[in-house]
Amino acid sequence: MNVLFADNLRFFDTTLRDGEQTPGVSLAPDQKLEIARMLAEVGVDVIEAGSAAASEGEREGIRLVAEAVLGPEVCCYVRALPVDIDWAADAGADSVHLVVPVSDLHIEKKLRKDRAAVCRMAFAAIEHAKERGLIVELSGEDASRADQAFVANLFGEGVERGADRLCFCDTVGLLTPERAREVVPPLAALAPLSIHCHDDLGFALATTVAALQSGATCAHATVNGLGERAGNTAFEALVMALETLYGYRTGIATRKLYPLSAMVSRLTKVPLATQAPVVGEMAFTHESGIHAHGVLREASTYESLRPEVVGRSRRILLGKHTGTAAVEAALAERGYRPDEARLAEIVRRIKALGDEGKRVTDADLLAIAEAVLAIECTPVLSLRQFTVVSGSNAIPTASVTIRVNGEEITSASTGTGPVDAAIEALRRSVQAVGEIELLEYHVDAISGGTDALVDVTVKMAKDGKIITSRGARTDIITASVEAVVAGMNRLLRD
Ligand code: KIV
Ligand code: ZN
Repeated sequence: MNVLFADNLRFFDTTLRDGEQTPGVSLAPDQKLEIARMLAEVGVDVIEAGSAAASEGEREGIRLVAEAVLGPEVCCYVRALPVDIDWAADAGADSVHLVVPVSDLHIEKKLRKDRAAVCRMAFAAIEHAKERGLIVELSGEDASRADQAFVANLFGEGVERGADRLCFCDTVGLLTPERAREVVPPLAALAPLSIHCHDDLGFALATTVAALQSGATCAHATVNGLGERAGNTAFEALVMALETLYGYRTGIATRKLYPLSAMVSRLTKVPLATQAPVVGEMAFTHESGIHAHGVLREASTYESLRPEVVGRSRRILLGKHTGTAAVEAALAERGYRPDEARLAEIVRRIKALGDEGKRVTDADLLAIAEAVLAIECTPVLSLRQFTVVSGSNAIPTASVTIRVNGEEITSASTGTGPVDAAIEALRRSVQAVGEIELLEYHVDAISGGTDALVDVTVKMAKDGKIITSRGARTDIITASVEAVVAGMNRLLRD
């Protein structure tokens, strides 16, 4: 396999700084610490914990991460200003990511200065940071649109003044892999060089890899590719590309990549793109008959990496593209072994549901199978009533009465909204028979308008078993309750 990289590539994670610059994202200091702990477990080399100049909360976050002594170097983003450097040092950072603009566009239009002034500021800042005992990574912002001779002079003299490392920033995602192969080698000859790419044109990963092959020894990346506009190089995709495509052993605990990604998505409230490489919901999901059939026989036919390597599992979805093999496997998992004719009928009904534009949930599959196999199943629980109170001056509150094993149970709960309250009340009402967890809740309005039919899909788990179910009504609360009751019935019966 092709190994063209330095022996010890480093990963500089900037989720807590550049990632947090994703519009709308703001992390509290303790949330930064939670993510930093996981980044340390995963094995990154540097955690850029934030920007000391941004706010008191930001400095508190950097302090918390630095005090926790997690293992990786704790870095702080600073401008070429003594006050920023002092804040970083006082917060306990090990290093500063000292950023100066290097393109004339940024120097003249943004900073309203000239190249000489930028050099003066950068050198003074480096000297000040070294006096404060900090490791310095000198970063050239918008380097891909800069005069490369100027960047080389600035970086060269910066190293003479004490900068320990350098960084080439492709600030607006214009660097191509070909151009990276030209611009990186002369700069990498000056000092250890990082590459920092943005994904505006979808090239961030390819360009980062090309820069690493051309002499850069450290990659800046963010979990889930978070960052300004289209984001930064996605850490999880970079790690898996290096491992899978180039056979490069990164030293990263790849099985923790998905838990890390899910944690970052939860805390930043930025949902994962459904089809994101490695971590997207569909990355290891198959529906089409040919693919599902192939994967069931030999996973590598339609998977370039095994889901468990990144902490995930494979999912076979049923729908109109489903083939017999996938349905047979799904039924066998639940203990059903229909003969050929009945299996064909079950497949026909699943495809018919898919043709209506519906997702086929686990509850749908079982309902169809039981109907075709004429299996009499008495539901474990049935809903007797639910009542929800909500309004501008009321805390959303729900009460539900269900019948479980012949006994009526009434439970109540408050929630963040009426749906949340109703689902929580349902969960409480079955607590005596089992702890059920709601993993996902998804709602689609099928038709337009306020009288739209809404389709609610839920994913729930009990004792490690996961099931999806659906409810469709014009009333979102009733649809949600219906979906949850159907799912609970399946989970409790199983
Ligand atoms: O993309 C960029 O140029 C940056 C710098 C400010 C470091 O994030
Ligand atoms: Zn950036």
